[in-house]
Amino acid sequence: MAQRSGDREPYLWEEGDFKISWMRPYHLPQVMAIEQSSFPQPWSYSLFLSELSNQAATYFVAFFQGKIIGYLGLWMVWGETHITTFAIHPAYRGEGFGKKLFGYALNYAKSQGCSEVSLEVRPSNIKAQNLYHSFGFKKIGVRKRYYADGEDAWVMKKVF
Ligand SMILES: CC(C)(COP(=O)(O)OP(=O)(O)OC[C@H]1O[C@@H](n2cnc3c(N)ncnc32)[C@H](O)[C@@H]1OP(=O)(O)O)[C@@H](O)C(=O)NCCC(=O)NCCS
Repeated sequence: MAQRSGDREPYLWEEGDFKISWMRPYHLPQVMAIEQSSFPQPWSYSLFLSELSNQAATYFVAFFQGKIIGYLGLWMVWGETHITTFAIHPAYRGEGFGKKLFGYALNYAKSQGCSEVSLEVRPSNIKAQNLYHSFGFKKIGVRKRYYADGEDAWVMKKVF
C-alpha cells in the first residue's frame, strides 16, 4: 500500500493496479456508463455534475489498470457521513474492488472526524448488504417505498 501522486491523476491511494482518485467532471462519461448499468433509476449527468460542486459532498473514482471501474459518493454534515452512491462496473464485480473502495471511504470519513456513517440499501440487494455487514453496518430502520419503483430502503449505520 502506498500513498503518492500519479502522472495524470492525483491519486489518493494505490495498491498495484488499483487506484483511487477524486471524481472530476472529465470522469463523468465513464461514471455514467457504470451508473446506467448498475441502477434501475440512474442519476443524470447533471446531477453528478451538481454533486461535484456541492461543498458537503465528496466523490471518489476507482481505477483498475487505468480504467474507471467504480465510484462512491458521500455527504458529510455535522460529523455524520451519508453514502449517496456506490457502484462497481459489472465486469469487475466480485474481485474485491468494492470492498477496497468502500473501506477507503470509511477511513476517509473517520479521518475527517465523522463519528458515524449511514446509507440506504434495497432489501433485495443481498450483495451490497453482505458488504456493509462485513464492515460492521447494522440495519437501523426502513424507509417505506423509498425507491421510485416502490421498493423500501433499509437504513444501515455504522458508528466508529
Ligand atoms: C455492491 C457492489 C458495489 C459490490 O462491489 P464488488 O466489487 O462486487 O464487491 P467485492 O467483490 O468487493 O465484494 C465485497 C463483499 O460483497 C459481498 N458480495 C460480493 N459479491 C457477492 C455475491 N455474488 N453474493 C453475495 N455477496 C457478495 C461479499 O460480502 C463480499 O465480501 P467477501 O468477498 O469477503 O465475501 C457491486 O455489486 C455493485 O456495483 N452493485 C450494483 C450497484 C449497487 O448495488 N450499489 C450499492 C447500492 S446500496
